[in-house]
Amino acid sequence: MGNWKMNPRTLSEAKKLFIDVRKNARSSKSSVEVVVAPPFPFISEIQRLSPSRSVKIASQDAYFEVSGAYTGEVSLSMLRTVGVDYVIVGHSERRALGDSDEEVQKTTAAVLKSNMTAIVCVGEKKRDSHGSHFGVVEGQLKSAIQGISKAKKNHLVIAYEPVWAIGTGKNATADDVLEMKLFIQKVLTDSFGRTTANAVRILYGGSVKQKNAEEILQKSEVDGFLIGGASLRASEFNTIVKMVRKYE
Ligand code: PGA
Repeated sequence: MGNWKMNPRTLSEAKKLFIDVRKNARSSKSSVEVVVAPPFPFISEIQRLSPSRSVKIASQDAYFEVSGAYTGEVSLSMLRTVGVDYVIVGHSERRALGDSDEEVQKTTAAVLKSNMTAIVCVGEKKRDSHGSHFGVVEGQLKSAIQGISKAKKNHLVIAYEPVWAIGTGKNATADDVLEMKLFIQKVLTDSFGRTTANAVRILYGGSVKQKNAEEILQKSEVDGFLIGGASLRASEFNTIVKMVRKYE
């Protein structure tokens, strides 16, 4: 999954990037899902370029209310009508702008109620030698999944994105990712039971590049990646998609 953030600058650049990603996504019978999250104003034009949905569309955020006096917000039903299937919830850049755990929880519940898929982002700001990052991730995760029924498990994806790794060029090691993946599965198991917890897909994000993706995939057994910077370069993004397909 590519998170384009507030990029690229123009619609024509966005279309070109999308078309280059689509070429690679189409050429395979693989069951790996390829998803991109363009900025809101580009979504409807972009989704028209993928009628067969070989590349799926995510939004980078959404508001949990159905409609009303919420200047600047975008609802889930609006996003659905322009072809959005996935919603990134609680990205650390949104949390840094003020999104609270409570809003993340309400948005996650609203996304699942709309039968869309929520990509819930969790991750610590920094690490210390006492392992406090596990407590941070546990708190964010438990809060986000409060009240979610087991039946929605296929519509829930967790993205472990340590904040210190985002956009810094310093990725978590494959061992770190494996350890956190197992921890997230344990927290999910406490809430949902093992079978359901194992069905929830877990992604890693934070400075994923073609040079580190394969090692992380191989050793950490994550189900995929949430990619920022490298998703703006179609050839690099496509190379990473091919690596994920090798391990599906
Ligand atoms: P990055 O961003 O790949 O540029 O580190 C990841 C993200 O913010 O999802």
